[in-house]
Amino acid sequence: MPGDRDVFRAPNGTHDVLPPESDRWQALVAAFATRAGRAGFGMIVTPIFEHVEVVQKLGSSTDAVRKEMYDFDDKGGRHLALRADGTASVARAFAQHQPVTPWKVWYVAPNFRYERPQKGRYRQHWQVGVEVLGVDDATVDVEVIALAHDFYRNDLGLRQFRLLVNSMGDAETRTRYREVLLRHWHAHEALLGAEMERAEANPLRILDSKRDDWQEMIETAPQIGDYLTDAAAADFETVQLGLRALGIDFEIAPRLVRGLDYYTGTTFEFQSDVLDAAQNAIGGGGRYDGLVEQMGGKPTAGIGFGIGIERGLIVCDAEAVFGGGDPEVDVFVIDTVGGVAGLTLVAELRAAGLSADRAYGNRSMKKQWGAADRAGARWGVLLAPRELAEGKVGVKELATGDQIEVKREEVAALLQTRRDTSSS
Ligand code: HAM
Repeated sequence: MPGDRDVFRAPNGTHDVLPPESDRWQALVAAFATRAGRAGFGMIVTPIFEHVEVVQKLGSSTDAVRKEMYDFDDKGGRHLALRADGTASVARAFAQHQPVTPWKVWYVAPNFRYERPQKGRYRQHWQVGVEVLGVDDATVDVEVIALAHDFYRNDLGLRQFRLLVNSMGDAETRTRYREVLLRHWHAHEALLGAEMERAEANPLRILDSKRDDWQEMIETAPQIGDYLTDAAAADFETVQLGLRALGIDFEIAPRLVRGLDYYTGTTFEFQSDVLDAAQNAIGGGGRYDGLVEQMGGKPTAGIGFGIGIERGLIVCDAEAVFGGGDPEVDVFVIDTVGGVAGLTLVAELRAAGLSADRAYGNRSMKKQWGAADRAGARWGVLLAPRELAEGKVGVKELATGDQIEVKREEVAALLQTRRDTSSS
């Protein structure tokens, strides 16, 4: 056995997902796919790396681009970057393929950000998310928010989370707001120090800082809600009316500008009450009406969200919901005959639609029954020399210990019928 030092480990900030934890991942993604499919979304798969300019559209003043981007030159000298989120790739794909609108897509994919790793914050994290392109209608914002909300509440079973919503207004709103905000930052130049440069580049970015010594300055900053144009205010009103009509609780968070530069109009975030404030966001999103154009496409409205899978599951653990479920093994084959008898029987059982497994490598009968128990199998099927010589196998229901002998060629059909009648 090599010492610990000699074992390769996954890179810092990344992690493996092993069974049975991966069963929960699969269940989470399946639930999301079903919900998104029901709402008219089709799945999109985009490359894990993009031209660096695509990822840079998250914003030159964002942490994701300034400090955390995984960019590299490939062997052909192209400057590429690993995706940092799903939205940039989806907007790029939309600009490239020019699909018919409305275009509604969902995804499950890893994202890469060179963050300081800690619980709930990784250098490779996964998101499920949706994006709607080509619909400039605030009631769609409500649909998108409701999809995420219902996924948390009804699919995962979470209760201890809050929905925060805000509006970043339209272009005119943001121009006016940036000016007054920058004036506020200038009044605190001493406190901002070298970060004043960042405040100048995009005054909004200072608002998402979690620095303790800045919180008072941030809390006293002007609020975007006071600068919304009439049109932007009307859209935000529609969003709030829609959420109320669907019975979805929310809070207005006037400083919620989110950490990426592409946002326009509605922004929202789901925060869990059971996580530390530094990474309590379990999902978020908003409108990004200028992003497709920045990718070289035609001006196109866009809205979507991303939900962190790892954080979602940490929160499920804390709330004791969305557990792993029982392993699904119908039949475990106990084989004391050897050769291909066990191999052919499990193949036959699986072909009949049963989930079937067996022990490998000539283990003792006792160990094989132990393995059947650990697998959570409903039935053990015993292949032993005497029974097999008579063309029979033993079938034991593990929960009750009831045992019968049946003809070898009938066992698959018999167990299939029993499974189907008990599950119907
Ligand atoms: P985001 O807020 O950067 O938004 O990420 C969405 C979610 O991904 C977060 O709420 C969090 O749950 C999870 N997440 C983000 N970074 C990490 C990390 N380093 N480790 C673990 N989990 C993380 C976006 O990415 C936008 N693309 C969302 C969106 C879609 N906006 C419009 N459409």
